[in-house]
Amino acid sequence: MLINPKPVIVENSYIKDYEKLYKDSIENPEAFWENIAKELNWFKPWNKVLDWQYPYARWFVGGQTNIVYNALDRWLKTDVADKTALIWVSQDGTDKKYTYKQLNDEVSRFANGLKSLGVRKGDKVTIYLPRIPEQFIAMLGCLKIGAVHSVVYSGFSAAALKNRVEDAQAKVVVCSNSYPYGKKTVESFKNVEEALKDNKTVENVIVVKRLETTNIVFPATNFKFHWWHELVAKQDIICSTEIMEATDTAFILYTSGTTGTPKGIIHAHGGYQVGIYLTLKYVFDIRPDDIFWSTADAGWITGHSYILYSPLINGITTFVYEGTPDYPDIEIWWKLIEKYKVTKFYTAPTAIRALMKFGEEAVKKHDLSSLKLLGSVGEPINPEAWLWFYKNVGREQIPIMDTWWQTETGMFMITPVPSAGLKPGSAFKPFFGVETAIVDDKGNPVPVNTQGYLIIKKPWPAMFLDVYNNPARYKETYFEKIPNVYFAGDSAKIDEDGYYWITGRNDDVIKVSGHRLGSAELESAFVSNPKVAEAAVIGKPHEVKGESIKAFVILKVGVVPSDELKAELVQTVRKSIGPIATPDEIDFVDKLPKTRSGKIMRRVLKAKELGQPVGDVSTLED
Ligand code: PRX
Repeated sequence: MLINPKPVIVENSYIKDYEKLYKDSIENPEAFWENIAKELNWFKPWNKVLDWQYPYARWFVGGQTNIVYNALDRWLKTDVADKTALIWVSQDGTDKKYTYKQLNDEVSRFANGLKSLGVRKGDKVTIYLPRIPEQFIAMLGCLKIGAVHSVVYSGFSAAALKNRVEDAQAKVVVCSNSYPYGKKTVESFKNVEEALKDNKTVENVIVVKRLETTNIVFPATNFKFHWWHELVAKQDIICSTEIMEATDTAFILYTSGTTGTPKGIIHAHGGYQVGIYLTLKYVFDIRPDDIFWSTADAGWITGHSYILYSPLINGITTFVYEGTPDYPDIEIWWKLIEKYKVTKFYTAPTAIRALMKFGEEAVKKHDLSSLKLLGSVGEPINPEAWLWFYKNVGREQIPIMDTWWQTETGMFMITPVPSAGLKPGSAFKPFFGVETAIVDDKGNPVPVNTQGYLIIKKPWPAMFLDVYNNPARYKETYFEKIPNVYFAGDSAKIDEDGYYWITGRNDDVIKVSGHRLGSAELESAFVSNPKVAEAAVIGKPHEVKGESIKAFVILKVGVVPSDELKAELVQTVRKSIGPIATPDEIDFVDKLPKTRSGKIMRRVLKAKELGQPVGDVSTLED
């Protein structure tokens, strides 16, 4: 099925002829990106657009800039200064609006607060905050002074926070006392206390008082605690933006991979800002009066690139709702779109599938005529969810941008543009200046409509710099499986019209409600329980979550299997990673399929579980 956009979208959008511009961009990607970079502000221009020394790419070498220089500073002397940069709606429905000028004042205060604590260029700051304005102010505040932020999703457990703070060697942690989450109150400060026990690098902890009702006592430790409001009250609203090399690290963001420990993905100031600026502009057809709502959380890359940085670099209004899609009721998203006249709405298939279950009525009651474009991200969107979103939210008038990308890519890589003819479930074709292909394990292109590995042939500007503290892992994971190209870890196929169909991960990463979890990470969570001898974890298709977690567990000799023990193991995993990693099914087994060298063959478990052919088992030990 091909859905063609309405003429009004085709005629008005930036890109009228995708194929022509794509061809031009690919013939000379460096010239293409250089022209775009010139639309942004630089303290000093670059002397080399791309330095590609496989497997490391460095963009705009010699150039000096700062993401904040483009996200805030450059607007301050223009009309944009008084425009709303951020609309934040709390769970109880009250809102806070910040103009660019006001946001800059808050960011400067916080940045000065960091400086007063001795934070300097290159220092690491872990931000463990819920979806509140301070989360964004803290991120911008770090970059403003050249500090490196590492945002940790507020739903992660104390143990997950601990290893991320330690790996980054953070000097500062920014957190909240507690926060509302639906009907519950999350006592997040307790996690911070637990995570920082025996910590050797943290010097200061800054605490936002999100809920007046939660009383906390700052414990006696060798680092200092500060209330956010007290720290910033003393600070000036003038703070100069640090001049950064284009290739300097802006932030680290941890993401799951094939081993037990998460990887710190590093992004730089220069290329990243160029990539995210243009992708949002072209794909969501950004206009000055846009109110852009991405329902993600800044704990993930979507929140970094497209809730915060790109909307501000594009000078528009970004919209944030603190609560969940079903709180206070399942109409909340549609009510908010209607009330705040959101123009572009970007969400995840899992949320669409969850809301679909409640029927069309909840959506139909609301006037969603302000919407001009829709978007989807995080996992493949099944055609039923696509069509439901298109019909009920888009009223068959507005197209859906199904954007494929990753924490590592920083920006959209395979995505439609508004004028493209769309096939529900396909992410269309590569973005300008991005060269992708589907290949076999030797790197040879596979025939049309054949599943293979998704690769990216050449560097792109928002490409990650490295894996923090682990360059070996950078090379092995992304650049050695298939020589000379970036290996994305996804399977996909290309149809007869050149459209890409992403089928999912091929590397033991499980996507639960769009969240990325590693099988190995889950398995080590299971075996952290002293009753467990061994565990193997697979992802299984799930109607709403996309994938669910199924574990096969071998108990230690003498431990009796029971439902209570299953419940205990669920808690073990939640405690070790967080509620997003809650296992759906646990089977107690006596044996696991292994290779002769002792590696668990998850592929065999998965095939058996799904009733599919098991494939080549010649390496199976038994
Ligand atoms: O498997 C792909 C899936 O999400 C993975 C990247 O996850 P993460 O780094 O957490 O970033 C998510 C937000 C960008 C990819 O390897 N994925 C992401 N977007 C899509 C998708 N799969 C299919 N279609 C998409 N639009």
